[in-house]
Amino acid sequence: MINPLDLYAKIESLIGFDAQYEMLYQNYLEILNALHVKRVLDVGCGNGRFLKHLKDNGFEALGIDRSTKMVERALALGVRASTKELCECEAESFECVVAIADVLNYIAPLEINAFLDDVALVLPKGGYFICDVNTLYGFEGVAEGVMYHDNGTQFLCVDATFANKELLTKIVLFEKEHELYRKEEGSITQYFHPLSFFKKLISFKLVSTRPIILFGDEPDKTLLIFQKR
Ligand SMILES: C[S@@+](CC[C@H](N)C(=O)[O-])C[C@H]1O[C@@H](n2cnc3c(N)ncnc32)[C@H](O)[C@@H]1O
Repeated sequence: MINPLDLYAKIESLIGFDAQYEMLYQNYLEILNALHVKRVLDVGCGNGRFLKHLKDNGFEALGIDRSTKMVERALALGVRASTKELCECEAESFECVVAIADVLNYIAPLEINAFLDDVALVLPKGGYFICDVNTLYGFEGVAEGVMYHDNGTQFLCVDATFANKELLTKIVLFEKEHELYRKEEGSITQYFHPLSFFKKLISFKLVSTRPIILFGDEPDKTLLIFQKR
């Protein structure tokens, strides 16, 4: 069975969030430029489009992602990317870590402290961690629902339900092979993390937040800027 993150990589272009993600990237670039950092790690770098922005703007960047398909796509853009884990990166080797477009929502509440500890390890004291998380509106008002896409050779159905602060996204993809269709399916869970959680971290101080409107008419994401204590 396909890794659900690789299945997401496969359907990403069919969903078509490119324009909204570009708007999100511009927020990150503006902040990174203002912070005067140079060495940046992009955790959950996906297809590498933000890494390409970083490269084109003179940053020294590396991306890591748990999907081999995403990393292959990023490498094809000529950026540095790998499937290695955060804990395999050298200690204090970056001035800033970014995790863009819901990456933190992919991490369960029970695992998020360990993830943040790993982020802290690759940063020196005073180093920055910038990420965004979905608001409740982002889950309930934007992400929840059913979406179909049919282009003749691929038929996709994405069915997302939000309950108990978790978004369960079921993905079914049929791809035409000769006269038959091959079916692949999987599911991804995303978790709501309240702002109150990020305000009381031990390793990081939350220095600023920025509401982000990408899809609806109220903020569907909050961008968070942390500094390592
Ligand atoms: C919604 S995509 C965003 C990708 C990219 N940041 C972008 O802006 O397009 C979330 C990405 O996080 C990756 N991911 C999820 N959990 C991860 C983890 N614990 N470590 C590394 N990558 C992760 C997924 O494979 C996926 O590529």
